[in-house]
Amino acid sequence: MTTLIDNRPASIDPLSLVEPDRVHRSVYTDAAVFDLEMERIWHRTWIYVGHESQVSEPGQYYATMIGRQPVIMTRHTDGKVYVIHNRCAHKGALLVGDREGKAKELRCCYHGWRFAMDGKLLGIPLEHGYDDTRFDRNGPEANVPQVARMDSYRGFVFASLNPDVPDLRTWLGGVASSIDNMVDRAPDGELEVAGGVMRYEHDCNWKFFVENLNDMMHPMVTHQSSSLTARVVAKKELPAEEPVPSAIEIIAPFTESYSFFDDMGVHAFEFGYGFSGGKTSIHAKYSDVPEYNERMEKAYGRSRFEEIMTVNRHNTIFYPSATIKGAIQTMRVDLVNCDGAHESSSVWF
Ligand code: FES
Repeated sequence: MTTLIDNRPASIDPLSLVEPDRVHRSVYTDAAVFDLEMERIWHRTWIYVGHESQVSEPGQYYATMIGRQPVIMTRHTDGKVYVIHNRCAHKGALLVGDREGKAKELRCCYHGWRFAMDGKLLGIPLEHGYDDTRFDRNGPEANVPQVARMDSYRGFVFASLNPDVPDLRTWLGGVASSIDNMVDRAPDGELEVAGGVMRYEHDCNWKFFVENLNDMMHPMVTHQSSSLTARVVAKKELPAEEPVPSAIEIIAPFTESYSFFDDMGVHAFEFGYGFSGGKTSIHAKYSDVPEYNERMEKAYGRSRFEEIMTVNRHNTIFYPSATIKGAIQTMRVDLVNCDGAHESSSVWF
């Protein structure tokens, strides 16, 4: 008979769980560690919420999570983007059940309180029932609260439940330039989310997802079947004189050698984020798209255009909640749902 040994540490002492050359397995499995991560990481730092283009018109909303807190990114009639709690000011019912949409106002599905897109209370059925009570219709508690901090960088909206979090630009530090490069790759210097969002659930701790994106020892193994198939199709099935479809160009390099991925390197920064690649990456050898090149050169001039395109970062991590691939203008967003399930979504620009 096999006996499973529970060697979980008696207390959650970070010094006993994380050593210079190893991490205790309970970091990935212990519910108490997870609870602390929600409180001390997800609820204290900047979390990526969405892109401004997802709420480009007044009335548009996009529901997501900050750690365990449901929130909504909205566009109000004043033209500004807001991030408010997805929680009715009356008895806390979820205000928005679907992921995204457009409405004149947010009407709670329980007793019908109505709120503007910035969270301000608009109306209450039978409001006179509150006469002679402590309820103040014009007080802040009557509104859906906005999150403690909200800011955006070149259209990417981040929010925090912590009023004392460092300002967003400071927090972004060395990886703000990855957003710059991704946006600069647009000839008109602006991005918008295209084609919706692809969502998937992972049956693993949220940290595996983040760590995996700068794990350079797995692509040639884990992605071997799809990458080798792409290489075979390119070689055997496509006429030699025809350009290789971009889908194949993107997938095939995942079976580059161990030394190629090792040479790409990883740059790490304060606050737990960083990027792999830089001078080169598996995204460095895509075929030219003449029409795109023309537009870029016209917009930026030859020299600046070349400078933009020679930045070849692979994955950039905005710890803990988002990663981007600038070269193919894709973003992956990490969510932890209320029940602890881990969900991520891919977004294309
Ligand atoms: S809980 Fe929303 S109106 Fe009552």
